[in-house]
Amino acid sequence: MAPNKEPDKGKELLKIEDLHVYFETAKAYIKAVDGVSLSVREGEAFGLVGESGSGKSVTIKSVIGLIHPPGKIVSGSIQYKGQELTKISSRQYYEIRGNDIAMIMQDPMTALNPVMKIRDQIKETLEEDIHMSEKDITERAVHLMKLVGIPAPERRLNEYPHQFSGGMRQRVMIAIALSRNPNLMLADEPTTALDVTIQDQILKLLVSLQQKLGMGLVLVTHDLGVIAQTTDRVAVMYAGRIMEMTDTVTLFKKPHHPYTIGLMNSIPSKKLAGEKLDPIPGLPPNMAHVPPGCRFNPRCVYATDECRQGEIGLREVAPGHVSACIKDVR
Ligand SMILES: Nc1ncnc2c1ncn2[C@@H]1O[C@H](COP(=O)(O)OP(=O)(O)OP(=O)(O)O)[C@@H](O)[C@H]1O
Ligand SMILES: [Mg+2]
Repeated sequence: MAPNKEPDKGKELLKIEDLHVYFETAKAYIKAVDGVSLSVREGEAFGLVGESGSGKSVTIKSVIGLIHPPGKIVSGSIQYKGQELTKISSRQYYEIRGNDIAMIMQDPMTALNPVMKIRDQIKETLEEDIHMSEKDITERAVHLMKLVGIPAPERRLNEYPHQFSGGMRQRVMIAIALSRNPNLMLADEPTTALDVTIQDQILKLLVSLQQKLGMGLVLVTHDLGVIAQTTDRVAVMYAGRIMEMTDTVTLFKKPHHPYTIGLMNSIPSKKLAGEKLDPIPGLPPNMAHVPPGCRFNPRCVYATDECRQGEIGLREVAPGHVSACIKDVR
């Protein structure tokens, strides 16, 4: 990969280098993540965007030790504050999860325990490493509920997940994720399961918390609108690889990779502006049989023979802006 001269926004929090995560099943060998490198700085909101199956979830699950057989981190490095995570034990991971790195999932209902009051779920997370008095737990839980904008927290703490609306449940999930003051928050499509109006509120909440608490954030989404609204920098993934990575303003002003340009042309906000929606023709590849050369080449209108040979690596097209396209099609 070409040297990436990122703006010096603070110390490096997370550094992923040449990560390969494969799934080996009886039927197929799937290279779900195939040579991903990225870094996230302290206090930075980093977006990971791409179509379904591009490897976004597998990438962030690798960071938090949630790749289980038949999945395997085959090679590469993941460092959190300089500590290599791919070599640590599950016990060490247990300590890092929650304390340093927290994750919010797409569907809060499956992540919450339906038969446990919210207070007890927060208590469980808080007490994973230190014993706290009941009074301190209630105080901390009320503080967290207020932080995420849940009204009447004292009363609501004694309710069960089904008594909360979808948006409120996601706020509870964020409160639980924040309970042990993580430095890095991983959010995997945190608003996809919610109504559009609620999605916006939750995203605004996430960004305001990230800024207020100075956390690093990795936000996974297939929605470029969400990226524009929330992130400082962004990586565009396609078929297990990063196609383009730069700061968010540059990505929207001067996208370089034809895949990014294709995604931009297919976002619904263009339709609102009266333009025709222009989806990318074709489908992402079957990950068991990725095409040779640039993985996007079968769908790319600019593809030539050169694009069908060898793996196309990232190159620097402007300071801090890398793209895995050998052409300059803008
Ligand atoms: N447990 C598994 N077994 C086999 N293959 C898997 C498994 N989990 C993920 N994969 C494969 O890895 C690839 C990447 O999956 P991943 O879940 O990271 O995609 P994604 O970008 O998060 O997509 P989405 O937007 O749909 O959530 C997919 O091709 C998927 O089929
Ligand atoms: Mg996913």
